[in-house]
Amino acid sequence: MKDWSRKDLLSLESLSAAEITYLLRRAALYADDVLARGRRVGHELDGCSIANLFFEDSTRTRSSFSRAARALGATVLDLSAKGSSTSKGETTLDTARNIEAMGVHALVIRHASSGAVEMVAQRVACSVINAGDGRHEHPTQGLLDALTLARNWSAGKSLNIDLRGRRIAIVGDVANSRVARSNIHALTKLGAHVTLVGPPTLCPPALRTLAEKSHSASIDVSADFDAVIDAVDAVMMLRIQFERLDGQVFPSVREYRAGYALTADRAGRMKKDAVVMHPGPINRGLEMDAEVADGTRSVIMNQVSLGVAVRMAVLEACIRAT
Ligand code: NCD
Repeated sequence: MKDWSRKDLLSLESLSAAEITYLLRRAALYADDVLARGRRVGHELDGCSIANLFFEDSTRTRSSFSRAARALGATVLDLSAKGSSTSKGETTLDTARNIEAMGVHALVIRHASSGAVEMVAQRVACSVINAGDGRHEHPTQGLLDALTLARNWSAGKSLNIDLRGRRIAIVGDVANSRVARSNIHALTKLGAHVTLVGPPTLCPPALRTLAEKSHSASIDVSADFDAVIDAVDAVMMLRIQFERLDGQVFPSVREYRAGYALTADRAGRMKKDAVVMHPGPINRGLEMDAEVADGTRSVIMNQVSLGVAVRMAVLEACIRAT
């Protein structure tokens, strides 16, 4: 099999461990150059153009894709729903097809509806990259999180993407989180053990079935953060998806903090070298104390930096496959 032959990146559920590993290794090659703040890193996408089509808000993901595309020589067209013809009633598919007709090589799409990005991918010839669709998946976030952990645990030695023996807690509003879904697939495929933690309304035990059958032993669910915190190598905090809560019973903010916030006290009980992650945006003081977000265990800024490298690898691999 060729290392990579897909024109689209829609989910991590659909990728093999070998495909995930391929993208992470490519990204790792770019990472140091990106961190060195070079304007341009390579010429792999010279003459190409990508379009960001964001039907939902974003800070990091959108600018990260732009930075990634430009670092490899591509030009970037930026479109958001606000200020586009979406507000005049144009359908997502019509918008996507019109932008494709202008000759772009890849559409990077964020959408509030799960499945909308795949729907577009089936109807256009150019590459389509999922930048987050509803509650479904956010594959480049899952990849950048896996790379952040793999690099952290390789510490100076050559990159080891095999995560067997590692334990990661994903904490908070798991039910509504596309970040959690992509991470569950990536991390279990790479061999890690994942514990989902949250109040049963936001983290029901049935979420255990999200991991593929072959990885079902690698995932469990707990409502007791304090019972998990000192046993894991990484804690990934999630933002409560207030915009997607949709009638779910949410404990009061005070209850939520008491049970599930990563407070300085809880962070103090983590294993010596365990790290703290968050995809952003952080609600400081709700799911995580500011001093933890900015503290020595935090790898949150590494996540952001490596996001650019991951998106470079993804854009290059998918566009090359068209
Ligand atoms: C996440 C998202 O949009 O899914 N943000 C991101 O891309 N870094 C997480 C969130 O909004 O909570």
